[in-house]
Amino acid sequence: MSQQSHISDIEQIESSALRELDAAGGLDELEQWRIAYLGRRGRLTQVLRRLGGLAPEERGRVGAAANRAKAALEQQLAERERSARKSQIDASLAEGAIDVTLPGWPSPAGGLHPTTQTIREICDAFVSMGFEVMEGPEVEWDRYNFEMLNIPKHHPARDSFNTLWIDYTDSDGERPMLLRTHTSPMQARVMENRRPPVRVVVPGKCYRYEATDPTHEWHFSQVEGLAVDRGITMSDLKGTLQEFVRRVFGPERRVRFRCDYFPFVEPGVDWAIDCFACAGEGCRICSDSGWIEIAGAGMVHPNVLKGVGYDPAVYTGFAFGMGVERVAMLKHGIEDVRLFYANDLRFLRQF
Ligand code: DAH
Repeated sequence: MSQQSHISDIEQIESSALRELDAAGGLDELEQWRIAYLGRRGRLTQVLRRLGGLAPEERGRVGAAANRAKAALEQQLAERERSARKSQIDASLAEGAIDVTLPGWPSPAGGLHPTTQTIREICDAFVSMGFEVMEGPEVEWDRYNFEMLNIPKHHPARDSFNTLWIDYTDSDGERPMLLRTHTSPMQARVMENRRPPVRVVVPGKCYRYEATDPTHEWHFSQVEGLAVDRGITMSDLKGTLQEFVRRVFGPERRVRFRCDYFPFVEPGVDWAIDCFACAGEGCRICSDSGWIEIAGAGMVHPNVLKGVGYDPAVYTGFAFGMGVERVAMLKHGIEDVRLFYANDLRFLRQF
């Protein structure tokens, strides 16, 4: 075939293509047309493929003509597709497919869970006193949850932390991994990685193998606190916690410390505020005692300091751990801890 006949072949394909395009109706027909001319085996595509077989002096002109034809067809197609789509939308609007006068669906506004709100409030109070906020793992080694906190194997204090073990056995046949029973393991983790001074609070979830009742849940949150430095004394502990109570529960609350036992502190205390419902008179909320316990605390035990490589002759510190839901219950007069995780919107919407 001569160069001229190649070119007239292209022109012919182009004009028949344009004629057919004029006749094509909706989007389906336009697609059929595209396949017939511009598809992989389309008529124009075949011509372009054959260019390789032409003599070099012919290839330039024939190629230019073919490419021009292709661009023209593509442009026409795009225009036709655009107007076909528009008429499709117009048609469905005319049928009333979209009724713009219908009211929309309200999108529900989320809010922070009362536990999260309380954690933030507790942490804010300590941050403003120079503490830093850190978090730790919920799946914990026995070593951090117990051993490094001066609770060796077979220590009776383990009974009060009856917990959920992870199904993993080490080479000694021990089950060393568990869902942490308190946030206290972070005391050891933080000290292991830092030199004093240390001032941290650690909010987080804890787990215990517990039959639930109005004051017990198998899952709950705590905020742990730890301050270690040279010369820290019990009065630092009392002053810090007193200031916390003032900020979170108000200036009129009184604070009480009584001796208590926790293996990782010496001396250990339980920390209570006078009952806000009866101001210490005794009522249902404080079980007639006039006081409400909010946390355990104490001076970090020398064995714990030694365990992380701190010299107890140089450094001392205090620690405390409080139940977040308990603080929220006291602040808001909530009577059943199980409400926190029952996913009942009637409860959650109140915060
Ligand atoms: N970890 C204890 C518990 O869950 C609470 C606690 C008591 C934390 C005394 C402390 C502390 O840091 O010093 O019952």
